[in-house]
Amino acid sequence: METDQIVKSPNHTIGVVGAGQMGHGIAQVMLRAGYTVILLDATKFLVDAGAKRIAKGLARDVEKERVTAAQRDQALARLKPTIEPADFAEADFVIEAVTEKFEVKAAVLGSLEAHCRADAIFASNTSSISITRLAAAAGRPTKFVGLHFFNPVPVMKLVEVIPGLQTAPETVEKAVALATSGGKTPVRVNDFPGFVSNRVLMPMINEAIFSLMEGVADAAGIDNVMKLGMNHPMGPLELADLIGLDVCRDIMLVLYESFRDSKYRPCPLLEKMVAAGWLGRKTGRGFYEYGKQ
Ligand code: CAA
Repeated sequence: METDQIVKSPNHTIGVVGAGQMGHGIAQVMLRAGYTVILLDATKFLVDAGAKRIAKGLARDVEKERVTAAQRDQALARLKPTIEPADFAEADFVIEAVTEKFEVKAAVLGSLEAHCRADAIFASNTSSISITRLAAAAGRPTKFVGLHFFNPVPVMKLVEVIPGLQTAPETVEKAVALATSGGKTPVRVNDFPGFVSNRVLMPMINEAIFSLMEGVADAAGIDNVMKLGMNHPMGPLELADLIGLDVCRDIMLVLYESFRDSKYRPCPLLEKMVAAGWLGRKTGRGFYEYGKQ
């Protein structure tokens, strides 16, 4: 199959690697758009957990009358959970959504390369790591692109589309078309650390954590200032809990190490909370307590 058919027919196969918070959301969006999705993770437990979250998300779509029960059933029938990278042989488009660490992403992308068709496009959902660097690690630099979704993926409209230095223009066009077909609004952004979204968002969150650490206000006070004064839908500390404090710390480190500028140093309180395992909603505790998740 020619990859340029990706934009024309829903009967294509998207391989999503990583069934966590971002990966399961991306898979849900692609299933809803009519694609077949192969969902890959390292263990059966992880991949089954992702599939369960997708089923729950699609059930919510039925409740809200965004899809019919029959469409939900068809979408779920197009979901192929697996722990075998060899199953990506059928994929037209691969979206990587694993841990936000270069070494982990590079190892996963490198291991998939041998199993995928030469004409398959690879995309990374990285929130801050250089697409050019990941493209080199994946071994297909002209067919590699950044496709950065936002949390919660089924709800948020934006996808940053980021070409690396060697990305072919048709790869970018196909990534834009894929995002659009999933109901998202793509914005093209150049390959600089943190792109636009996290270069602007993460220093704000980090500064909110410094404000908490220095006792400028308590967590609710800081969040209320930003919600009521700036009309943000969530305060920065609530948002950090949603994103995951480990993810916030990892992104700050990418900015810090890439620009070598102390203004991007992760706040010591953020480091301490990550060390304690208080990672936000996913562990039941971050700046707020959530009970058992
Ligand atoms: N997962 C899936 N769906 C969710 C969700 C979640 N975690 N949280 C809320 N939703 C859904 C709700 O189910 C609801 O959908 P329905 O239409 O089915 O009811 C919808 O979102 C609206 O939710 P609510 O009415 O409960 O709440 P709300 O109006 O307060 O909106 C919100 C919730 C959409 C999360 C909103 O608070 C918001 O936009 N917050 C900011 C989120 C944001 O900034 N995300 C970007 C983070 S940065 C990032 O992801 C990139 C990165 O690289 C770190």
